[in-house]
Amino acid sequence: MKQSPTAAGASSRKGGNLPIFVVVFSIFVFGCFMYNEDVKSIAEFPFSSRKADQEMQTTTVSVVMNARTVVETEVETVHSSPDDDDDKNETLKEPEEKQGKIEMPIDDEELEIPPPECDLFAGNWVFDNTSHPLYKEEECEFLTAQVTCMRNGRKNSLYQNWRWQPRDCNLPKFKPRLLLEKLRNKRLMFVGDSLNRNQWESMICFVQSAAAPGRKSLIKNGSLSVFRMEDYNATVEFYWAPFLVESNSDDPTMHSILNRIIMPESIKKHAKNWKNVDFLIFNTYIWWMNTASMKVLRGSFDKGSTEYDEVDRPVGYERVLRTWAKWADKKVDPNRTQVFFMSMSPLHIKSKDWNNPDGIKCAKETYPILNTSMPLSVGTDWRLFATAANITNSMKTPVHFLNITTLSEYRKDAHTSVHTIRQGKMLSPEEQADPATYADCIHWCLPGLPDTWNEFLYARILLRPT
Ligand SMILES: *[C@@H]1O[C@H](CO)[C@@H](O)[C@H](O)[C@H]1NC(C)=O
Ligand SMILES: *[C@@H]1O[C@H](CO)[C@@H](O)[C@H](O)[C@H]1NC(C)=O
Ligand SMILES: *[C@@H]1O[C@H](CO)[C@@H](O)[C@H](O)[C@H]1NC(C)=O
Ligand SMILES: *[C@@H]1O[C@H](CO)[C@@H](O)[C@H](O)[C@H]1NC(C)=O
Ligand SMILES: *[C@@H]1O[C@H](CO)[C@@H](O)[C@H](O)[C@H]1NC(C)=O
Ligand SMILES: *[C@@H]1O[C@H](CO)[C@@H](O)[C@H](O)[C@H]1NC(C)=O
Ligand SMILES: *[C@@H]1O[C@H](CO)[C@@H](O)[C@H](O)[C@H]1NC(C)=O
Ligand SMILES: *[C@@H]1O[C@H](CO)[C@@H](O)[C@H](O)[C@H]1NC(C)=O
Repeated sequence: MKQSPTAAGASSRKGGNLPIFVVVFSIFVFGCFMYNEDVKSIAEFPFSSRKADQEMQTTTVSVVMNARTVVETEVETVHSSPDDDDDKNETLKEPEEKQGKIEMPIDDEELEIPPPECDLFAGNWVFDNTSHPLYKEEECEFLTAQVTCMRNGRKNSLYQNWRWQPRDCNLPKFKPRLLLEKLRNKRLMFVGDSLNRNQWESMICFVQSAAAPGRKSLIKNGSLSVFRMEDYNATVEFYWAPFLVESNSDDPTMHSILNRIIMPESIKKHAKNWKNVDFLIFNTYIWWMNTASMKVLRGSFDKGSTEYDEVDRPVGYERVLRTWAKWADKKVDPNRTQVFFMSMSPLHIKSKDWNNPDGIKCAKETYPILNTSMPLSVGTDWRLFATAANITNSMKTPVHFLNITTLSEYRKDAHTSVHTIRQGKMLSPEEQADPATYADCIHWCLPGLPDTWNEFLYARILLRPT
């Protein structure tokens, strides 16, 4: 199929034929906005809210590497409010053959790390308001207004209190400083769309409580946002690339493009930004979901090409993932870099999907779906899931496929719904009163579900020898 030069490609990025798409836009509003908050490009965040409860203390941390090298480091440790109980001694036992061990002589509690072969994703949701949330909304100043549901007026906070319980093992108890030790002198980067950004924000909150006040910063610069913790020389980063490959939606702020066109074989431009990263976490899904087909550019945006072909969604998706897999197999050094792929984050648009005829999208939901034997279909495109599972499994580079889709499908209660922003602005009371139009049933509140996704990452990162 061909397309006139004015409507497609680079030229339409400046806003060519927009009125045509207004109808489509109202049907599928949410996969394509956000980031207006990024206009303030560089921001320093001094630690403030918990200062009163804190005292600085110096602890000696011995990192035993390969049973021989012992690195002794002085670290500043924040001892803070009572809910933060990780100022006890802790010992991490690594599997014998790994010969790696972290000893933190400040806690004698042993940490149980699930073995690599345990399927973390088969299990169920358990109400547990003693261990969850893992951090408090008001204590993580790095959260954006998109996800702070309680501050934005949500009344019911139960969605914060669910813990994922794997059937055959336990997720390790969350210890921010243990994770930070694994991240010392390293870079961790999320690459993908706004759902991966959602998870990135969660990860920042995971680690920031253990980093010293005034010694952490968040800098947003174009497609790359970097959260840095000086004392650990560690970063937690996010790189915007909603299709992983090159597309006309790559602008990190002006990407509300409904006529989405990709270059499925073109990944270099983005991938050069993923070099020398120690933990890479990829995703791509939501931007595929507003049309049954995907537009594939003939030629290149750089050369001003605007003609495209249309391919079925799974065909386009497979082409993209094969390009990505080829890149990873060629460029990633598995001795240095651990690679993860997040499976699809599901939507909850039709309350009939979970037998709630009185529901309005996800807006009235306060409980997860707990009966897991009930067949459930919320419209996830499982063809894409199968492709991703298959490709990540057949690569030379080991890739951890984090199978979060099914367990997230149960969490109809966990979306931001009307307690969020839209195009950079908080929803007005009138808009909040109209969830049928305005509820965001794609993104998730924080603290919340993406914290569980990060618990899976945490479990796998702990397995890595230091
Ligand atoms: C923590 O470990 C240190 C050194 O191993 C020990 O002196 C101290 O009593 C321990 N504290 C607790 C609370 O177990
Ligand atoms: C993903 O996890 C679900 C349970 O949460 C399980 O039913 C499914 O088989 C898993 N799929 C893969 C590919 O591991
Ligand atoms: C935890 O939940 C139980 C049961 O709903 C409730 O009685 C208790 O007050 C809750 N505790 C906290 C700290 O919210
Ligand atoms: C700090 O971290 C960077 C990025 O991971 C690394 O290249 C560098 O060697 C680290 N610096 C020191 C002093 O270890
Ligand atoms: C932002 O990124 C550009 C291109 O990667 C780089 O040249 C520039 O120095 C960066 N600016 C800051 C403030 O880091
Ligand atoms: C990775 O490490 C192994 C074992 O130390 C070594 O044999 C291999 O050559 C290394 N691979 C690369 C790409 O450096
Ligand atoms: C769970 O769902 C199944 C299948 O719909 C049904 O047979 C069963 O009674 C339900 N269990 C509970 C506890 O509601
Ligand atoms: C997975 O890959 C194998 C081999 O390439 C293929 O035979 C199989 O049909 C694929 N399965 C899915 C679900 O894509």
